[in-house]
Amino acid sequence: MAVKVENISKRYKKGKLALDNISFNVDDGEVFGLLGPNGAGKSTTMKIMTTILKPTDGRILVNEEDLQSNPQRIRSKFGYIAQDNSLDEQLTGRENILLQSRLYHLKQSEDRTDEILNLIDLGEDIDIPVSKYSGGMKKRLEIGCALISRPEILFLDEPTLGLDIEARMDIWNYIRMLNKSYNVTVIVTTHYLEEADVICDKIAIIDSGKIVAIGSPNVLKKKVGKEKIEITFESLDDKDKADSFLKDAGYVENKQIIDNTMVLIVDDAESRMFEIYDILRGKGIRMTGLTNKKVSLDDVYLYYTGQRFEIQK
Ligand SMILES: Nc1ncnc2c1ncn2[C@@H]1O[C@H](COP(=O)(O)OP(=O)(O)OP(=O)(O)O)[C@@H](O)[C@H]1O
Ligand SMILES: [Mg+2]
Repeated sequence: MAVKVENISKRYKKGKLALDNISFNVDDGEVFGLLGPNGAGKSTTMKIMTTILKPTDGRILVNEEDLQSNPQRIRSKFGYIAQDNSLDEQLTGRENILLQSRLYHLKQSEDRTDEILNLIDLGEDIDIPVSKYSGGMKKRLEIGCALISRPEILFLDEPTLGLDIEARMDIWNYIRMLNKSYNVTVIVTTHYLEEADVICDKIAIIDSGKIVAIGSPNVLKKKVGKEKIEITFESLDDKDKADSFLKDAGYVENKQIIDNTMVLIVDDAESRMFEIYDILRGKGIRMTGLTNKKVSLDDVYLYYTGQRFEIQK
């Protein structure tokens, strides 16, 4: 299923503008990532797309049909996994799945409980209370519950938040598998830029309720540049001096400064790095760190917002 978000704004009662005229398209079969820091508007966007919230302005088209024209029918094609745990902790994993399947009043012929139990692969733990599950196991189970209704679009709000790296990889692989094997369109929000880079076909970066960049991770990174040099200075004074010396360096394609760190986008970081080091040392500027790296989505974020992307939770 394809989704078009057109000029959506949202103002909460007595609140500020949480979404400010955002638009983007999600293609059929895509894994689409909505990325942004705390309070950017990710959950709000997702709640509007799943009809949990009404927008103040704008509209959403699902396969060219206005979502508001028949919210119930269109929503029945959606699976939504909220940011907060929605499981019944007293019940076992299996009971949670069965409960979900009853809620949907599925006929026996439509029942896919066994298939989902296989898919989420919790082994014997499927029969112990969910309160004893790890974060990653709970998330797998929640995704399993959302799959009961055979959704064509799966909305996942922060599916890997708070999980350790291994569980995060596990969940991402699982999401990828669902997307490929079942042709489910996936719309996912996340704080983890490196993971989105690997998993998403397309991403939108949202910041303070506005979309600041949109495209495939590779295209976005290419727009910023290929390589970067990051220099940390001993003091702000050293940084200011370096800034004035590097001002006229033609090979610096983009420069961003955060506190006493400077990020330079250049074409050939490795050789430029030594050149820059020599120049700055020659001027008596004190540096405490100097590295060169490939451009990442963090740099894309920095480039478009002028701020570092930080996980604040
Ligand atoms: N029910 C509400 N009433 C008023 N303001 C709200 C409400 N829910 C969210 N907001 C505000 O709207 C903005 C966007 O919130 P939202 O939850 O969409 O952000 P988010 O990107 O999902 O953040 P996080 O990464 O913390 O989950 C924030 O400023 C938030 O304080
Ligand atoms: Mg959120």
